[in-house]
Amino acid sequence: MRITITINGEPREADVWPGESLLFALRERLGLPGSKNACEQGECGSCSVLLDARLVCSCLVLAAQAAGHEVVTVEGLARDDQPHRVQEAFVEAGAVQCGFCTPGLVVATADLLAHNPSPTEDEVREALSGNLCRCTGYAKILDAVSLAASA
Ligand code: FES
Ligand code: FES
Repeated sequence: MRITITINGEPREADVWPGESLLFALRERLGLPGSKNACEQGECGSCSVLLDARLVCSCLVLAAQAAGHEVVTVEGLARDDQPHRVQEAFVEAGAVQCGFCTPGLVVATADLLAHNPSPTEDEVREALSGNLCRCTGYAKILDAVSLAASA
């Protein structure tokens, strides 16, 4: 089936099969590999995107369900070739090791700060509880979120 999704502000068309995930369509059909596929079961958050401004795991959304809707991926957070402040903060705080979790954490953090510009540490931990990282121990990720919040 042919679908149109507005992705990062641009209408994009793709041929998908009915059971195909939004994550698969983004990565394999639309040239947007920023969203990562780590578990494909809604457990890790590495595939996080915004669907109509709501944070979702794109592995749990059918591409067909996103037809006619707006999706923002990690690639869409930068503006005018400038990284998003959350992207800068993750680099500055050294919150990236293998980087597999990073796009999902960046999208989830950007979503958190859009709704709550000065979150407490408990609020940050709660908001990012669906994003798993096997490398960093999370301390530098928390540093990055506070850096982004204070930017
Ligand atoms: S790949 Fe979607 S939650 Fe893990
Ligand atoms: S940096 Fe490796 S999983 Fe988070």
